[in-house]
Amino acid sequence: MNTKVLDAFTQEYKQLLELELRTLVERLNSPPIIKEAMHYSLEAGGKRIRPLLLFATLAAFGKEPRNGLLAASAIEMIHTYSLIHDDLPSMDNDDLRRGKPTNHKVFGDAIAILAGDALLTYSFEVIGKISNEIASSETKLQLVIEMAKAAGSEGMVGGQVADMEGEGKALTIEELEYIHIHKTGRLLRFSVIAGALLGGANQEQLENLSSFAHHLGLAFQIRDDILDLEGNPEVLGKPVGSDTTNNKSTYPQLLTMDGAKEALQKHLEKSKQYLTKTGLDINLLSEIADLVAARDH
Ligand code: IPE
Ligand code: IPE
Ligand code: MG
Ligand code: MG
Ligand code: MG
Repeated sequence: MNTKVLDAFTQEYKQLLELELRTLVERLNSPPIIKEAMHYSLEAGGKRIRPLLLFATLAAFGKEPRNGLLAASAIEMIHTYSLIHDDLPSMDNDDLRRGKPTNHKVFGDAIAILAGDALLTYSFEVIGKISNEIASSETKLQLVIEMAKAAGSEGMVGGQVADMEGEGKALTIEELEYIHIHKTGRLLRFSVIAGALLGGANQEQLENLSSFAHHLGLAFQIRDDILDLEGNPEVLGKPVGSDTTNNKSTYPQLLTMDGAKEALQKHLEKSKQYLTKTGLDINLLSEIADLVAARDH
């Protein structure tokens, strides 16, 4: 696989995104401790897969990826909030994230919860900051509604609830699929949808991109389950064995490791079939899909 083009793209846009995130938080007129806690988790690293998907979707439409900087920042804020809360003692109770102590380990539970709340709330303000040259008021409203749905109780939060309620239970593969599609898939899919809305997609392209991202989201979380067993914590930047400790149902646990890898491959292939149907310049998106399936962190 020749990833030279994606490597250069990743380097350029990751840097721009990280600068934007820093500037957006710096600008806040808030108690210093909450800004520090927000900066801490936002700048702890992370692969920035969701922003990259958004930028690559804009590129697929032949549009300037920079037009997606604010939308990508908003998504990364929601994703980061979800990780801060996911790691809390009352949820997965993990001590390491993105290679550093988790937010609550450094700032305490109360500030960690509030830093998550602040990132989530700010993300919607950030969508509102997109200039009218980049998106009409109508498109911005669409972005707000789709982002709220993806992150809320019909999306990521719904998946996290089912994940928590499923601890210690023998789930069916359908129940586990619901969890994965929602806790991880919905926000990942929104990243592509946001790029498509900003890129001026027609209805058919929106539907194909949405199916592409749906399967990619599933592949992403199946890989996450696999890495929780097979990963190297130093490379991963988070603990392995967390799912086992918390008695979670996972793809390897339900289907065996080979079965999980097969399911991952199936969803990767399906995602690419939909991508091909878009008629867009899909090279970057296709490379990101390969990366998601093969990633070691
Ligand atoms: C981790 O997401 C949580 C899941 C949804 C599986 P990422 O694997 O994208 O985490 P970062 O952003 O790179 O740290
Ligand atoms: C978390 O899934 C998904 C969200 C944060 C919404 P996991 O609990 O498996 O993610 P990791 O493994 O802690 O990153
Ligand atoms: Mg979790
Ligand atoms: Mg977790
Ligand atoms: Mg996990």
